[in-house]
Amino acid sequence: MDQIAIIGGTALHGNIPIGGAKNSAIKLMAAGLLTDEPLILTNMPRLRDTRFLGALLQRLGTRITESDGASGPQTVLHTPEITSAYASYDLVRQMRASFNVLGPLIARTGHAKVSLPGGCAIGARPVDLHLSSLHALGAHIDLHEGYVYAQAPRGLKGARIKFPFSSVGATEHAMLAAVLARGDTELIGAACEPELSDLAACLNAMGAKVSGAGTSTIRITGVTRLTGATHAVIPDRIEMGTYAVAAAMAGGVVRLTNTRPDLIDALLHKLDEAGVGVDRHPDGVTISRNGARLKAVEIETDPYPGFPTDLQAQFMALMTLADGESVVRETIFENRFMHVPELSRLGAEITVSGGEARVCGVDRLEGAQVMATDLRASVSLVIAALAARGETVVNRVYHLDRGFERLEEKLSACGAQVRRIKGSAEPDD
Ligand code: EPZ
Repeated sequence: MDQIAIIGGTALHGNIPIGGAKNSAIKLMAAGLLTDEPLILTNMPRLRDTRFLGALLQRLGTRITESDGASGPQTVLHTPEITSAYASYDLVRQMRASFNVLGPLIARTGHAKVSLPGGCAIGARPVDLHLSSLHALGAHIDLHEGYVYAQAPRGLKGARIKFPFSSVGATEHAMLAAVLARGDTELIGAACEPELSDLAACLNAMGAKVSGAGTSTIRITGVTRLTGATHAVIPDRIEMGTYAVAAAMAGGVVRLTNTRPDLIDALLHKLDEAGVGVDRHPDGVTISRNGARLKAVEIETDPYPGFPTDLQAQFMALMTLADGESVVRETIFENRFMHVPELSRLGAEITVSGGEARVCGVDRLEGAQVMATDLRASVSLVIAALAARGETVVNRVYHLDRGFERLEEKLSACGAQVRRIKGSAEPDD
């Protein structure tokens, strides 16, 4: 397994281009199942998760062509027919977002057998809202031996679906199914994350009728067929936020380009409050810090436009060196403090009680061997290492490769001392 070794203490100076959003790309790829014409996705991130979903889609009948020409990274997905409506446990357990092929498969073929995803490192992560939405849209759902067996032989029909709380995945899943349902669908209490607006824009370019995405009520009028389209994946707000925090941690001046600062307003306000320089541009943001100690600030994760749970670990890493005590509250997932014992190995002082962590800023961190536990937790260790004295080695970096493209290259281009140590073959999850 690969490792990443970082020697801390170098300020960052330079530009970092932000790629397309992982969490949008994988739902857009699933949308390709809804049409027999080619769907062309541009600004595609090349990640372990997108490769993985690509392999699953190929088993379902999708032809995938990737190119990285002058117009940037592009993926063409073409599914003339669904050759299999079956996603096995082995495929779904490796990446839980694979579960999102269920809705498109039912919408296109009237049936599907897809494994339940199971829990993961950050919590139980049930899919009850996904299943109740598909049921409301007229799918007959049976659960046997860890599999969802879904049938809708006469097609799906529009419905009024009220979500009890915000769920990104369930809202996306309902949208992916409802676009080909007969009649009108209303999603009330819908998640408002930018990736949902991106999915709606792509579906509309394919001929769907979706309005209200980005608000808590989404209306969809079903159509009988969707066509091919070309769509540019939205910039990855979590990648942007991660590098913003990295620059704040290491010090220096870093310009993040090919992105939109409004996607991470909640983080930028907190960085500003902590004493970090934040200068917005139409195509990105410049983050600067001159070496003065940061102020401790409190954060609480919330659905968009609140502070993203996917940036909580990174911000906590930043607060380990702040002046005073910072409080970090996690309200989305029940087990998202797995990075705390690893940050403590670097010398951080953090105590956790339930969903709240208290971070008492220390004068310095020291390099150590640490272990990545999930995607965002792993990158928080890289961030901490950028300011730690000596060398930190992050183990199990396959987690990082799921969601950060060319991380070492992007940080090294700004002067960071980061290198990958190649190891043996990597596990599945
Ligand atoms: C998406 O997960 C993202 N994943 C997550 O990013 C992100 O942290 C999360 O949204 C919140 O922003 C992808 O887009 C692939 P949810 P998702 O449904 O859709 C509960 C990363 O690191 N819930 O909004 O699974 C759930 O357990 C990942 O890139 C149910 O109870 O998140 C959680 O507590 C990690 N029943 C809450 O809702 C359901 O049926 C919000 O989850 C569905 C969800």
